[in-house]
Amino acid sequence: NSVYQRGLQFERPTLSFQTAKWEADALDRMSAESKGYVFGNAGTGETARKNRDAFARWSIVPSRLVKTSALPDLSTEVLGEKHAFPVAVAPVGVQRIFNPEGEVASAAAAGRESVPYIMSTASSTSIEDVAEANGDGVRWYQLYWPANEHNDITISLLSRAKKAGFSALFVTLDTYILGWRPSDMDNGYNPFLRSDKIGVAIGFSDPVFRSQFKEKHGIEIEEDMHTAAAEWTRTIFPGFSHGWEDIAFLQKHWDGPIVLKGIQSVTDAQKAVELGVQGIVVSNHGGRQVDGGVSSLGVLPRIVDAVGDKLDVFFDSGIRAGADIAKAMALGARMCLVGRPFVYGLALGGEEGVSHVLKTLLGDLELTLHLAGIESANPKHLNRAILEREDH
Ligand code: FNR
Repeated sequence: NSVYQRGLQFERPTLSFQTAKWEADALDRMSAESKGYVFGNAGTGETARKNRDAFARWSIVPSRLVKTSALPDLSTEVLGEKHAFPVAVAPVGVQRIFNPEGEVASAAAAGRESVPYIMSTASSTSIEDVAEANGDGVRWYQLYWPANEHNDITISLLSRAKKAGFSALFVTLDTYILGWRPSDMDNGYNPFLRSDKIGVAIGFSDPVFRSQFKEKHGIEIEEDMHTAAAEWTRTIFPGFSHGWEDIAFLQKHWDGPIVLKGIQSVTDAQKAVELGVQGIVVSNHGGRQVDGGVSSLGVLPRIVDAVGDKLDVFFDSGIRAGADIAKAMALGARMCLVGRPFVYGLALGGEEGVSHVLKTLLGDLELTLHLAGIESANPKHLNRAILEREDH
């Protein structure tokens, strides 16, 4: 509400309140490579377009004369804990290519805004430094899962994350190799193969990776950054997927909730339930992995119907406004991850920029629910009864 009041005081804000402008302004600001990376989708971009189009098929039906004395309660419960807001910062790699402060700025902003921060294994800042920047915030660790021959590195990453206060593990299943991304290919750009350490921060700071590198090549990482970057990239993107039977390994080595990110089918959601994980993220990586894939919002209701009462369903891919969060929550998600919008905020204004994006999305959500006569983000108020399907 304070964000809204400020927006009406006729002072020009540093960052726009028009969410679509963040993308346009960020475009102006970034290098061709960073632009290609953040805007880059798989193939023709069809999945990314479908992600957005799916939101327009559902419309909110407002109720009138709903007499309330307080603004909607946005709190939600996931992984056994109550959170003030139904939003988390999605894991995004190599954030220092968007702003020199990178993950330190975004983790600090998330901590400040009471929004959980999900840290990527492809981060350009070490696990320990992100934890410090995040302070008392809720933080979760996203794993890009090295192949089984590198289980000792996986164990090292998990124990570092645990020690640094990351309370849940998000395992990304859709990216054992980066997608077919023409924009990066045109730029001849792989953000992980940069010679300036940016792409390899976590591996670079990992004692097990360091000692294995030295053993194999007879030199320190610092003596051949390019080879080290290539090796780290191959380690976290091994090229081939694990199998469902390998989840037990993570359950053995991670003491806390596990959430599988990248689920798009009912069958996979049911397998997740059978294995006893605590949550799934219905996500197609923002349309960056499989071109021609289903829209993430499109598959959400079916997945919620199948497993929503057995584990926590998170959602991402295409969230750009408060109403989008409302729709995903009404369809049964318990929390939404925001990807590209916060990256635009980071590129445009560092920590302040990320804060601005989070506050704007939440302020927009609060007022949208309030004006639609929806008293809270709890499923007892925010559910499918408030939506109508409109096909155009
Ligand atoms: C991502 N995403 C991602 N996911 C993940 O699990 N680990 C990662 O390192 C990254 N890196 C990454 C970089 C960039 C530049 C983008 C845009 C995305 C995917 C991310 O977590 C999320 O699933 C999508 O961004 C959600 O879609 P929207 O919100 O961007 O539409």
